[in-house]
Amino acid sequence: MIKVGMAYYPEQWDRSLWEDDAARMAKLGVRVVRLAEFAWSRLEPSEGRFHFGWLDSAIDTITRHGMQVLLCTPTNSAPMWLYTDHPETVQCGRDGRPIATGIRGHRCIQSPVFRRYAARITTEMARRYAGRPEVYGWQIDNELESSHCTCPSCREAFRRWLRERYGTTAALNKAWGNEVWSGEISDWEQIQPPVSEDYMPDWYNPACMLDYERFGAWCLADYVRQQRDIIKGYDPDATVTTNSWFCANMPDFQQEYACLDVAAYDNYPPMVLPEDGETLYSNAFGLDLVRSFKRKNFWILEQLAGAGGCWSPMGPAPEPGMIEGYAMQAVAHGADLVSFFRWRSSCSGAEMLGHGVLDHDDRDNRRLAEIGRFCRRLEQMPDLDRTSIRGQVAMLYGADQEFALKNQRQSEGFAYWTQLRLFHDACMGLGIGLDILPEDAPLEGYKAVLAPTHYVTDPALARRLEGFTAQGGTVVITNRSGVKDKHNNCLFGEPLPTVFRRLCGCRVKEYDAIGARRQHIAAADGSGYDVTGWCDILEPEGAQVWARYTEKFYAGAAAVTKNAFGTGCAYYVGTVGERALYRALMAEICRERDIPMLEGLPLGVEVTARRGQGGLYRFFFNNTLRAVDFPLDGQTVALAPMEMKIQAGDGRWL
Ligand code: GAL
Repeated sequence: MIKVGMAYYPEQWDRSLWEDDAARMAKLGVRVVRLAEFAWSRLEPSEGRFHFGWLDSAIDTITRHGMQVLLCTPTNSAPMWLYTDHPETVQCGRDGRPIATGIRGHRCIQSPVFRRYAARITTEMARRYAGRPEVYGWQIDNELESSHCTCPSCREAFRRWLRERYGTTAALNKAWGNEVWSGEISDWEQIQPPVSEDYMPDWYNPACMLDYERFGAWCLADYVRQQRDIIKGYDPDATVTTNSWFCANMPDFQQEYACLDVAAYDNYPPMVLPEDGETLYSNAFGLDLVRSFKRKNFWILEQLAGAGGCWSPMGPAPEPGMIEGYAMQAVAHGADLVSFFRWRSSCSGAEMLGHGVLDHDDRDNRRLAEIGRFCRRLEQMPDLDRTSIRGQVAMLYGADQEFALKNQRQSEGFAYWTQLRLFHDACMGLGIGLDILPEDAPLEGYKAVLAPTHYVTDPALARRLEGFTAQGGTVVITNRSGVKDKHNNCLFGEPLPTVFRRLCGCRVKEYDAIGARRQHIAAADGSGYDVTGWCDILEPEGAQVWARYTEKFYAGAAAVTKNAFGTGCAYYVGTVGERALYRALMAEICRERDIPMLEGLPLGVEVTARRGQGGLYRFFFNNTLRAVDFPLDGQTVALAPMEMKIQAGDGRWL
């Protein structure tokens, strides 16, 4: 059965509350209690003196009520004595100076001294608890980000990493094109992290920036692997993960999760929904992206349970139905464990106004009742965990694209995530099953592959997409594809989209980075769309023109093309359009490739399906605050605001 979890911090509450807390959680339907995430100072109050007695009692109380525990290594927040005794374990900021301690997450994950202490507390925990039947799984650290620490050991590690990769300073100079602005180095010591106090990423060498991001991602993966190996050393069968969020310092998730058993995500969907629907489905995108990390079902380790209020003014209370609806939305996109954050709002510390399930008054409330309803619904589908999601359309995501485009802006408003989300949004709006995939994933079994903005170019991917298209698949390529080589330098001597030119049957004659300005394209079928951000002025080389610009000096030139290639076809979208453009493209692709879709869904309604040994379940979620209805198989489906309806394979509504 899909499990419901709860974050609980026994160290923050009087022991007299524990028994009752456990009884109330168990009665609610909670099966897994997440513990110890920030409890290092209670587990090791002074160097080498370990106190596990209180955690033993908490685990004992929880398991007596029939629940299991999910144990977190507490390494996000080291105890203050460690920072005092070993100041070199404190992360350094962009100015090269240690950051101020006193909040959380101050540690440098690359510091050998910190690593030693982190390994020791992890070893102590694993030795004590790993392999015990009451342990459901393990979480490493908390919301890890790619490391951009500038402490002396990180500087040294960056140099070492580059040295291993390039061998000689001459090879590095060549790869990075360091002759520009006299950037050539003659000694590895001359390498510095590309950050500074008055940080302006656009001024640094993009090749250096990309390697710096890759290095940060490598550090993180290395850190995760160390803790994972310790836990697995005590229990090879343990399920080990770490909880991700989408942050500014995004890691390479494929690399991070490579050695972990399951992907996990902290799911805080928006509580204020925009009237215009502009960012609808944004939450679904995050869930689908997390499913791509291991290409299988995942866990939610923090699920929205109350109004926000950490690090910011308090937000509005969740509307009725939101907590239940969003939790079921996570399941509908592939979550097999949904663990709410947190049981009771804290009475102290910076997070005291961030709301958990219970308020400070400790009374049962509306939010608790919604979680109870969520648990009861899951009980009606005991086999749901034996199902998974598999779409017929795939969309490729690459960490290098994220890194390179974040650090070198293409035009005002142009963003990698926006490109991805426009296609994702169109698929959601048409009820199309979509899987996000890493760029090197096998493509067999898919009918269409969307590859927006493949900017840092892997020529092998172009060849694979050609093979896929030749055998009847449909591929979509967009602007800013085929631009850079693997070092993040511009490809020379070939018109854009370079390696994709043959597949797309067109070339970019010139481009116009129009930024936030808007203009228009007219499609061959008579429809028209506003566009913004970027305009590739295309010259077809065999492709058919799907849409043309109607303005500026390139009025009449091709903006979107479609090229027959083998028995399949490739679209090239040279601009960034409004939502309707992507809907029209996706609907055409579905019609031509016989991919199931649902036209006529109201904006904000999502349809997903889980299928497998456990049967077939279709999920219909109204991700808006309006009541909506729509036709389905000759009936009318009505959905209240934030309501999720679930249909079993035999047509029964559950
Ligand atoms: C998460 C974090 C939690 C808690 C929560 C508050 O990002 O992992 O520890 O701070 O936010 O909403």
